Amino acid sequence: METRSQWGTRAGFILAAAGSAVGLGNIWRFPATAFENGGGAFMVPYLVALLTAGIPILIMEFTMGHKYKGSAPLTYKRMNRKTEWIGWWGVLVAFVISTYYAVIVAWAIMYSIFSFNLNWGSDPEAFLTGDYLQTAAAGEFGGFVPGVLIPLIVVWLIVLGVLYRGVKKGIEMANRIFIPALIVVFLIIVIRAVTLPGAFEGLNAFFTPDFSSIWDGQVWVAAYGQIFFSMSIAFAIMITYSSYLPKKSDITNNAFIVGFGNSSFELLCGIGVFSVLGFMAVQQGVAVEDVVAGGVGLAFMVFPAIINEFPALNELFGFLFFASLVLAGLSSLISIIETYVAGLADKFNISRHKAVVFGGGFAALVSLIFATRGGLNFLDAADYFINQFGVAFVGLVEVVLVAWVLRKLGEFKEHANGISDIRLGGWWTISLGLITPVVLGYTMYDLFRTNLLKLFDTENGNYEGYPDAFILYGGWFVAGGALVVGIIMALFKWKESRAVNENETQNTGEAK
Ligand code: ALA
Repeated sequence: METRSQWGTRAGFILAAAGSAVGLGNIWRFPATAFENGGGAFMVPYLVALLTAGIPILIMEFTMGHKYKGSAPLTYKRMNRKTEWIGWWGVLVAFVISTYYAVIVAWAIMYSIFSFNLNWGSDPEAFLTGDYLQTAAAGEFGGFVPGVLIPLIVVWLIVLGVLYRGVKKGIEMANRIFIPALIVVFLIIVIRAVTLPGAFEGLNAFFTPDFSSIWDGQVWVAAYGQIFFSMSIAFAIMITYSSYLPKKSDITNNAFIVGFGNSSFELLCGIGVFSVLGFMAVQQGVAVEDVVAGGVGLAFMVFPAIINEFPALNELFGFLFFASLVLAGLSSLISIIETYVAGLADKFNISRHKAVVFGGGFAALVSLIFATRGGLNFLDAADYFINQFGVAFVGLVEVVLVAWVLRKLGEFKEHANGISDIRLGGWWTISLGLITPVVLGYTMYDLFRTNLLKLFDTENGNYEGYPDAFILYGGWFVAGGALVVGIIMALFKWKESRAVNENETQNTGEAK
C-alpha cells in the first residue's frame, strides 16, 4: 500500500494550483472572449461569476479534496456512494481537454522555434493552415503532420516525466520553475506591449463597455465558462490537488490567493493582448475590431502578424510570447492529466507509475488524432463542445449536489473554518446555495434549450459551418461521451486498496 503523496510546502501547493489555473485559457481564451462578449461590460458577469461561483467553488473543491483525501472519483464516493460518477465525469472532461491541450502546447513549441527566423512570413494565416498544419477538410484525418507529431511527443515526455516523479519531486518542483519564469517573461511582454504606439486604442476598445450585452444569456454562459476553465474548477483538478494537502493546511486563504492571482494574471493578459492589437490596428489603419480573433486564430495567426510589425527585436518578442504559452500550458496540462492518474491509481489500486504509463499513454495515443492534417477541425469542435456542455455543466451538477441534494455546505464550512486563516461567512453559503444554482442553472437551461434540442442548427448553420455528421461525432459524442464513460467507470468494482479505506489517516504534517 502506498502512502498518499503530499505537497512539500504551502508555497509549493499554491504555486501548483496557480500553475494549473494560469494557462492557455488566460492567454488565448480570455482576451478574445471578453472582447466578443461586450468588452468592458463583460467584466460585470465575469466578476459576478468570479465572486459568486469561481472563488466559492474553489474553496468548496479545496475543502472536499482535503476532507476526503482522494482523487475526484474517490472524493465523491466518500461523500456519498452514489455520486462517484460525477467525479469520473469531471475526470473524463479533463481527459478530453488534455488530449487537445497537449497539441496546442506542441504548436507553441514549434512557433517558439519559428520565431527565430519569423518563418511564418508575411501571411501567418496561410502559413498556419497551409504550410504548417496542411489542414484537411472537416472529418478527414489525412495523415500525420510531422511538425506537430514530433513536438507533441516531446510534450508528452515532459509532462508524463514530471508526473512520474510524483507530487513533491515532480509537480511541485516543475511549478517552482515554470511559474516564476512565466511571470518574468510575461511582464517583459506586457511592459513592451503597453509602450507600443497604438496601445491606448487597443485598451480603449477592450475596456469600453457595450452594456447591451449584459442582458444576453450567452454572455453569462461565456463568463461562467471562462471562470471555470481558467480557474481549473469543475473538472476534477482542484479536488485532486487539494487531496495532497497535509492535515494542517489553510484552505480559504489559499483559495483567495490562487483565485485572485489567476484573475489578475488574466487581466494582465487582456491588457497585454489588446495593447498589441491596438498597435497592429494603428499600423494597418483599421479598427481594433478588425484585427481581433478568437482562440487559435489570436495566438497563431494574429500574433505572428503583430510580431512582424514590431519596431525592433521581433524574433525575441516572438520567442518570448510563444515561450510563455509553452510555460503556462505545460503547468496546466500537468494538473489536467493528474486527475486521471490519481483516479486510476485510487480505483484500480495501481502505483502512480503504472497510472502515468497507462492513463497518460492512452491519452497520448488519443491526442494523435489532433496531430493529423484534419486535427485542427477535430480540435476546434472538441474544444467548443466540451467547454460548452462539459465544464460548466459539471460545475452546476456539483454545486446542486453539494448544496441542495446532500446539504453539505454547513459541514464543509465548519471544516474549512476549522483550519483556515479567513473564516467563511454567509456570502459563501448564499453564493453556492442560491446565486450559482439559479444564475448558472438558468443560463445552462437556456443554452440547452437553444442548442441541445436542435442538435444541428439548421437556421444559422452548424458551429463553424461544419457538416452534421462531423458535429455529431466530433462534438456531441465527445461531450456526451465524457458523461457516459464517466458513468461506466463508476460501475467498475473498486480494487481492495487504500481507496476503500475510509479512515485513511496519512495526511499528517504541516504546510502552513
Ligand atoms: N486553467 C487552465 C487554463 O486556463 C486549464 O488554461
